[in-house]
Amino acid sequence: MKFQSAKRYDEFAYAQKIVADELLKMVVKSRSEFAQIYEIGAGSGVLTRRVISSLKYDELVLNDIYKSDFMASFQTQIGDILTLNLPQKLDLIISSSVFQWIENLDKLRDKLYLSLNNDGILAFSMFCDGTLQELSSFTKQSLKYKNNSEIKEKFAVKFEILGVKNEEIIAKFSSLKELLNHLKQTGVNNLNGNFKLTKENFKLLEAHFDGNFALTYKYINLICKKR
Ligand SMILES: C[S@@+](CC[C@H](N)C(=O)[O-])C[C@H]1O[C@@H](n2cnc3c(N)ncnc32)[C@H](O)[C@@H]1O
Repeated sequence: MKFQSAKRYDEFAYAQKIVADELLKMVVKSRSEFAQIYEIGAGSGVLTRRVISSLKYDELVLNDIYKSDFMASFQTQIGDILTLNLPQKLDLIISSSVFQWIENLDKLRDKLYLSLNNDGILAFSMFCDGTLQELSSFTKQSLKYKNNSEIKEKFAVKFEILGVKNEEIIAKFSSLKELLNHLKQTGVNNLNGNFKLTKENFKLLEAHFDGNFALTYKYINLICKKR
């Protein structure tokens, strides 16, 4: 995960923007006025900007592991969402393109549940298995993306599911270089660990794509209400 160094994230985060747009549309269908909103993993504000323009609220707190420049003018809580003491009685907890980084989703679910008001809403998007499959089929490395029905079932244990959407986005590029740059700029890089992008690997990877420089993003959006 290299979000801090992904300086041009906003310019390249095509999939993350689509997913965030759709998440907000789904939230608005359920409710659009909240007292306390807490956003997890706000980063450079792709989702936050949409929250500000689509929802009415009294207070908005932004969380992330790192404090981005964007977050400077907001109330923030910096740190790993799994270890922080979260505010209580929240009306809406929202997050986009973050939960795929969190391995222990059960722990996260239980923690968020306790921080919500009784009729509070948890709304999130996350990438699931099949994401960047074009790359992982070559590198044999990937984030441990979870299965979309598994994710839904996990949250249905504690929450009433008000909305669910499973979709995929295919991002197309004109060259391998452009594709790799997109990955670098969005910090969603599978080329970590043991895989080294040597000149030879570049050529092999180019052959692997066989002229079709495309990346798949599969995601789930869930709107959950505390029972
Ligand atoms: C792909 S970016 C998404 C940023 C923004 N939400 C968006 O929609 O584009 C993922 C963000 O999640 C943050 N993040 C990852 N793991 C986290 C954790 N355990 N607690 C808080 N933030 C986390 C990263 O620092 C990064 O800013």
